[in-house]
Amino acid sequence: MSDLLLRNCTLKGAASPVDILIADGRIAAIEAQLQAPNAEIIDCQGNLVTPPFVESHIHLDSVLAAGDPHFNQSGTLFEGIQIWGERKKTLTKADVQSRALEALKMMAAQGVLYVRTHVDVTEPSLVALDALLELQDQVKDWTTVQICAFPQDGIYSRPENIGLLEEALKRGAQVVGGIPHYELTREDGVASIHHIFDLAERYDRLIDVHCDEVDDEQSRFLEVIVAEAIKHGNGERVAASHTTAFGSYNDSYAYKLLGFLRRTNINFIANPLINITLQGRMDSYPKRRGLTRIKELWQNGINVSVGQDCIYDPWYIFGTGSMITVAYMTVHVSQMTGLPEIDACFDMITANGARSLHVQDYDLKVGNPANVVVLPVKDAFSALRFQVAPSHVISRGKLIVQNKAATSEISVG
Ligand code: FE2
Repeated sequence: MSDLLLRNCTLKGAASPVDILIADGRIAAIEAQLQAPNAEIIDCQGNLVTPPFVESHIHLDSVLAAGDPHFNQSGTLFEGIQIWGERKKTLTKADVQSRALEALKMMAAQGVLYVRTHVDVTEPSLVALDALLELQDQVKDWTTVQICAFPQDGIYSRPENIGLLEEALKRGAQVVGGIPHYELTREDGVASIHHIFDLAERYDRLIDVHCDEVDDEQSRFLEVIVAEAIKHGNGERVAASHTTAFGSYNDSYAYKLLGFLRRTNINFIANPLINITLQGRMDSYPKRRGLTRIKELWQNGINVSVGQDCIYDPWYIFGTGSMITVAYMTVHVSQMTGLPEIDACFDMITANGARSLHVQDYDLKVGNPANVVVLPVKDAFSALRFQVAPSHVISRGKLIVQNKAATSEISVG
């Protein structure tokens, strides 16, 4: 692998451009006017150069499966779960791997090189889990996949599910998941969270719970996660995904909860593309946005990252693999249109995601693996404004993607 020299790079927050030298798969130097006569040169033209985008929340087992056996006509979470319940009976390893690999390539082409996927572990053969564990190893030279064991149908909804979740950890899932609001009773939901924390401790795993993904303002499992995280002292290893009911809580309760949250360091992962479409379906008007309180969490110094959740699957028929699109949607639905707020939304698809996923060696720093994305704009705001794709994506020191700018010829006026 030849050395690479990225000339004239603008780093986010830096005052003046620098060059980045990449050798043996790692960042060898970051300085102005570097000399490296034998290196292949990429002229970055003063454009923004960033660590890769981080997909904090997706379901790779169900990507690219929309319409099979039929499309979701109501647009609800529950019809999605019902369709997936039919589809998952036909899963094979090859089926899961080919769809997941295609999605990972779509994402890499858009600068996404860290991915946390949830995988349904309530399907008795665990074929999707095995498929993704194998794929995770196959793609490790160009992208990093982290797998969360996700009991889609609930831990206590069928007697065997509790064993399947633990088996998934034994087979190698790196994160324990849950879905307390979909357990049969409130008591089961609370018990599921205790069980998840217990498993995480016994198997030394991270936690990422689908939590309160409903519009019901009485869905209050987030407070149970907060209490467990305080008791275990492991908040930074915990993520609460979706938490859409937080958008429906009364302000008095939400204010109290924010105070507790500041003590825990838990991570929030919001999925604005999917939740703006799934939630509020039972409302007439005014119709709720069905999104967690992203802006307020950010204002309180709590780590928030964002995910796509779905790409063309039973829950959501759109999705391109672009995290820029996710950040763009976050700006809109969270009304984070001030310039520092837009900048924060860019962080939600980069540094904050790395923090949620516990990515090591993420930053553009000498000695770190050379995972680098070059964008064809000067700053984060412009990246969202023009919704750009990267011009170059470098993974482990190797140039793996070059996107040419699309051009238009206009003959008017
Ligand atoms: Fe999800």
